[in-house]
Amino acid sequence: MPSHVVILAAGQGTRMRTARPKVLHRVAGLPLIEHVLRAARTLEPGRVGVVVGHRGEEVSAGIAHHPEVEIAVQAEQRGTGHALLQAAPLFTGLRGTLVVLSGDVPLVRPATLRRLVDAHEAAGAAMTVATARVNRPYGYGRIVRAAGRLARVVEERDATEAQRRLREINTGIYAFDLVPLFAALDDVPVAGVVHEIYLPVLVTLYRRQGLRVETVAVDDPNEVRGINSQTELAEVKRIVRQSKNEELMAAGVTIEDPATTYVDADVIVGPDTVIHPNVILEGRTVIGARCELHAGARIVDSTVGDDVLIRNHCVVDGTTIADGARVGPFAHLRPETVLGTGARVGNFVETKKTVLGEGSKANHLTYLGDATIGVGVNVGAGTITCNYDGTRKHATTIGDRVFIGSGTELVAPVTLGDDAYVGAGSCITTDVPAGALGLARGRQVNKDGWGARRNASGRGGD
Ligand code: UD1
Ligand code: CA
Repeated sequence: MPSHVVILAAGQGTRMRTARPKVLHRVAGLPLIEHVLRAARTLEPGRVGVVVGHRGEEVSAGIAHHPEVEIAVQAEQRGTGHALLQAAPLFTGLRGTLVVLSGDVPLVRPATLRRLVDAHEAAGAAMTVATARVNRPYGYGRIVRAAGRLARVVEERDATEAQRRLREINTGIYAFDLVPLFAALDDVPVAGVVHEIYLPVLVTLYRRQGLRVETVAVDDPNEVRGINSQTELAEVKRIVRQSKNEELMAAGVTIEDPATTYVDADVIVGPDTVIHPNVILEGRTVIGARCELHAGARIVDSTVGDDVLIRNHCVVDGTTIADGARVGPFAHLRPETVLGTGARVGNFVETKKTVLGEGSKANHLTYLGDATIGVGVNVGAGTITCNYDGTRKHATTIGDRVFIGSGTELVAPVTLGDDAYVGAGSCITTDVPAGALGLARGRQVNKDGWGARRNASGRGGD
């Protein structure tokens, strides 16, 4: 029989002090709740419910790409027990195990969830609480035991001095037998100094009814860290960053300084690639083998081939770079840029929606927008595609083996045929046919003796 899952994600996250709902804060590029959903999915659950409330539409939109999720709404945030109760309609008539997860406990591992379910079912328990021993239990509900067995969970704010010293905590992750659950939840009284309906109160209630309540210990306390504040968010980010870097290094990537290397969860990097300090790889980025990423490069949602060199301080976004290309330093490759094999983009070059063909070069101080550039093209220093007329964007098309002299303006729409040349300093407003030289600049005038005459008129320097 498959298990089912509910994720509690309706809380405001007051302690974050942000307008953004807590579960949409990101760790390794993914919202907290995305991490939880991915872990949940590994249980192959029958049903997955998510309880949303505070800014619920934003949260629902943030997980809309999960077709398996059914949303329950908790209109007023009256506590975790009340939140779970709102999911009851999703499970009417179902039997078996319901795993309850918190949207703000993102690092829980699939193996732990599996172990929780197995232990719960093997014991025939009505409720199993995942617990952990932590060095800093502040903020968590504490596990109070009597004769070694779980007696109750006491929240930080309701705990006595002695209870606050307990280091075994409630992780906020539970397995329940669906059969008695929702009827029992209906009976949970408002509790605590904040008058909420606490989910962990079910421990007390079940014990009173003689139902079996068990615990499962999670060994690695990092796995069950809850995020309630910005500081805790930053700590969890650091943990995830470190483990992602370790994973990459285990796969043959050289990371000069893991402490300053920021790689999102879904990024892939090939072996023998060297990552220098302060490199940021985000989103759905894929980097090939034997690449060199110099300090300060930020690469977002891009695909980079093998043997690519990205020099210092480049921003690469939504770009595809073929094998052997060289980029930077200080280049800005914007979305829909495609660099062909061995292409070169140098310092202070910006590209957008531009294809630069195999072996083509734009080495200095250039803007290429809405341009399609063939193979073996040389784009001279300071070349600018004038692609915008104030209303619309226009295309520039450049054939193969074209040579564009420095300081050229290409006023789009314009086409340069194969093997065309453009003289330096030209402002090209009409097409240049294949093999032709396009020249469009003022003729130079030299005035002999002009300097001496200027000085004689008394307007010279000192
Ligand atoms: C909760 C537990 C605590 C445990 C800790 C683990 C309760 C009363 N306390 O405390 O024992 O140690 O998690 O991290 O359960 N939520 C709702 N609706 C609400 C309130 C909360 O959906 O009305 C959701 C939140 O969005 C969050 C989760 O439930 O994802 C936990 O809520 P939170 O307020 O963070 O509980 P903690 O104080 O951390
Ligand atoms: Ca929490």
